[in-house]
Amino acid sequence: MNNVIGMKHPLIQHKISKLRDKNTGTAEFRALVEEIAMLMGYEALKDLPLEDVEVETPIEKCMTPQIAGKNFAIVPILRAGLGMVSGLQALVPTAKIGHIGLYRDEETHKPHEYYCKLPSPISERLIVVTDPMLATGGSAVAAVDFIKQHGGKKIKFMAIIAAPEGVERLMEAHPDIQLYVGHIDRELNKDAYICPGLGDAGDRIFGTK
Ligand code: PRP
Ligand code: URA
Repeated sequence: MNNVIGMKHPLIQHKISKLRDKNTGTAEFRALVEEIAMLMGYEALKDLPLEDVEVETPIEKCMTPQIAGKNFAIVPILRAGLGMVSGLQALVPTAKIGHIGLYRDEETHKPHEYYCKLPSPISERLIVVTDPMLATGGSAVAAVDFIKQHGGKKIKFMAIIAAPEGVERLMEAHPDIQLYVGHIDRELNKDAYICPGLGDAGDRIFGTK
């Protein structure tokens, strides 16, 4: 799948291994998620649009590129996707932030929407959706559906760990988006958790449970 971009960088792989460790506590887990998001962002934002602006150096005036104004939005899927926002915001402090609130039903594993707000206008922006976990793909597909219904066109999805099932489902539903993924794990278990995975990302980021 051409639009699935795996992250091979050793720093990312090293940090993902630390995330997996059940003995990694909340503060370190949160910091790692932020750092991984920043490293993945470096790759995912390679094609951010630039515009030339005039700058006066101590020597002379010149035209030089800067990231074009209203062109970027970060859209975390609540809750766990929130943990990746600050890493991307560190790269592009002017980014607008949308929110998509979804939780997975424990029995059916289907996503339920509880809050959605996107920056306007959305249609011209490069939109990076963040969620550390792409499991069945239900939440990711619902989030991208929502963004497209509201006019979003240029969409990238960043997941730290994915199951093969989720990758397939997301790319089948939305073959036009780019998926940046830190690692594709073996499979889902009967509770639709990723194996070996890292457990419940939201609980580990926010220290719940
Ligand atoms: C987790 C995760 C994804 C979703 C992935 O969120 O952060 O959003 O599950 O599963 P899927 O691919 O099968 O849809 P969860 O629903 O547990 O909510 P939380 O982030 O609030 O804990
Ligand atoms: N959500 C998580 O947080 N972890 C998984 O393994 C699957 C869904």
